[in-house]
This record gives sequence, structure tokens and C-alpha cells, in this order.
Amino acid sequence: MFKTAIVGCGAISKTHAEALKSVKNTEITAFCDTNTEKLNKRLEEYGGKGYSSLEDMLEKEQIDVLHICTPHYLHVPMALAALKKNVNVLMEKPPAISHEQFDELKSAANDSGAKLGICFQNRYNDSVIKAKSIIESGSLGKVIGARAIVTWSRNEAYYTTSGWRGELIKEGGGVLINQSIHTLDLATYLFGAPKEISAMSANYHLQGVIDEEDTISAYLRYPDKNLVFFATTAFCKDAPILFEVMCEQGSVRLEGNTLKTTYADNTSSFTDYTERSETGKACWGTSHKKLIQEFYDCLETNKPFPVTLESTQPSFESMMAIYDSAKTNKTITLGV
Ligand SMILES: NC(=O)c1ccc[n+]([C@@H]2O[C@H](COP(=O)([O-])OP(=O)(O)OC[C@H]3O[C@@H](n4cnc5c(N)ncnc54)[C@H](O)[C@@H]3O)[C@@H](O)[C@H]2O)c1
Repeated sequence: MFKTAIVGCGAISKTHAEALKSVKNTEITAFCDTNTEKLNKRLEEYGGKGYSSLEDMLEKEQIDVLHICTPHYLHVPMALAALKKNVNVLMEKPPAISHEQFDELKSAANDSGAKLGICFQNRYNDSVIKAKSIIESGSLGKVIGARAIVTWSRNEAYYTTSGWRGELIKEGGGVLINQSIHTLDLATYLFGAPKEISAMSANYHLQGVIDEEDTISAYLRYPDKNLVFFATTAFCKDAPILFEVMCEQGSVRLEGNTLKTTYADNTSSFTDYTERSETGKACWGTSHKKLIQEFYDCLETNKPFPVTLESTQPSFESMMAIYDSAKTNKTITLGV
């Protein structure tokens, strides 16, 4: 039986707790939050012991796995505290908010006997798995370019009521680090790390609400001249993400949970993979459950969990390069 604890009892913690209900051999033994109201809500729903301090919880409970669902700036210090005690960590994205944090986490993960997994659950979407296999099979020829557009709704209240979102030192950035990092991760998951990045950012309609960008656009250049155009903005609705890959003999178009493949003769196939999310916003998708299940399967069988920190390095470095390029107005060369 794996003894599990969740730190951070806000929005995403419910998705983790619900997913754990269907993972065999797990028991949520404790929750931790500095906000008593949020902590008590989770305790009422799922049981377990409550703590207001992670250090206290790690000291008093014999935990096998810690789920980190706190604001971005706390991910790394909390993961370090757990890994040092050989507690396995499943951490929400982003993996870090600075290069220093990323490197510190990497060395702590290498030194620890425990596993570290990062929640980039969209890698588990059926549509993404299918798209990846089509692209990698080469049946549509070489990839010649791609475009990725993320326009999710994040209004003033989303930021002002959270106590951390919109603040550079706590969130690490704006819409890129919080929402569209999933789609940037998809680009690097499919194509690897780009060689160069040029980007521009702006704050069009959340001036005075968030410190950083509400809009960003970037060009990701690959050694073989393939390009990814990436654009994201805080929008009026959670519109479906568009990710379209153009190949020499066709294209693969992911839109929301649908996948359309167009072939050289202009015929196409279309599949809607939509599953209803019962535990969170539809735009988060339903794949947390699959990722969390696999994390525990890997613990059980002592196999490597695929969404390692290393596997997120290309998207992390790309994100940092986008920010760097937007700030300096220069093209950034990546060395991942
Ligand atoms: N993978 C996804 O699709 C997805 C979706 C939503 C959120 N997230 C990520 O999940 C994380 C949390 O986001 P959220 O929307 O649930 O935020 P939230 O603000 O709703 O919840 C964060 C919780 O952490 C608590 N907290 C803050 N400081 C703490 C501390 N020192 N010790 C213990 N608890 C503390 C807060 O009181 C709050 O309850 C973020 O990293 C976010 O990016 C991921």
C-alpha cells in the first residue's frame, strides 16, 4: 500500500485526489495547506490527517509519495524537501521557475533514491499519442512546419483571487508558464528541442493585474529548418488548442481533443477523442488519471516513469528562451 499525501489543496488537488481513488494500493494519508478552509474541505472529502506545514507533515507521516499542487515558486523547494527524505514526488507543472531551480532539482533527483515525475498529462491524451505515432511513422513524409495556438480564458478574477497568479516571483511569468506550457511541451515532445527561438510578448488587457505577459508569440527553429510558430493569449473563452503539423505529404491537426489527418490525395480521417472531465476544467483534459496511474505502476514495478525532469528540459529551456528573447529582443540559441 502506497501512503500518499497532497500538498496544496486548491483547484488541481481535487483532480489528483479523484484520480487516486482509482489507483489500486494507494491511500491518501494526509493533506497539507496553509489555508485552513481549503485544507478542511479536502479532509472532509477524502479523509486523512491535516497539516499546515510540509516540513511537519514529512516529519510526522511515513509518506511514500508526495503530490505537489502548490504555486509555482514552491514546487522546487517542496520537491527538494521530499526527495531528501527519499519520498517519491509527483509534481505539477512547471518543473521550475528559473534555471537555478531546475539545476537544483535535477541534482536532488539524481542524488535521491526516490522517483520524480512531472504532470505534463497531455502527453497521455489519446489524440496526442495517435498524432505522435503518425508523425514518427513517416507515412506523411518529413515534417515541414507546425503551428500552435493557445487561447484560453483567464480573466482578472482568476489572478486577483489566487494570492500567487500574476506575480512574477510566485508564478514565474504569465500565460506562457501557466497555461500554454503544456502546448510548448507538446512541441518539444514531438520535435525535440529547437535550435533557436525568437519571441515577442505584450500585456494588452491585464495591465495592472499581472506583472508579466498576457500574450506571447514565438518562432522555434529546428536544425533541419522546420519551424514551429507558437502563439498564446488570455482570451474571452477557453477555445480549443490548435496544434497543426504540416508534412511533405499531408498534415496532422489536433484541435481540442480531435485529430484530423489529411493525406497526399487530399482525403482525410477525423476522430473525436473527447472524454468528459468530472474533476476539473475541461481545458485541463482527462489525462491526469492516466499519468498518475502510470506513476504508481512504475513505482510498483520499479520501472522508469517516462515524464522525468530530464524529459521536460527541452520545454523548460524553450520557455526560458522565449522569455529571454522577448525581454532582450534577440534570437536565443539553445544548448539542450
Ligand atoms: N496540469 C494541469 O493541467 C494543471 C491545471 C491547473 C493547475 N495546475 C498547476 O497546479 C498548481 C496549483 O494550481 P491551482 O490552480 O490548484 O492553484 P490554487 O491557488 O487553486 O491552489 C494552490 C494551493 O496551494 C496552497 N499553498 C500555498 N502556499 C502553500 C504552502 N507554503 N504550503 C502548503 N500549501 C500552500 C494554497 O493555499 C492553495 O490552496 C500550479 O502549479 C498550477 O500550474 C496544473
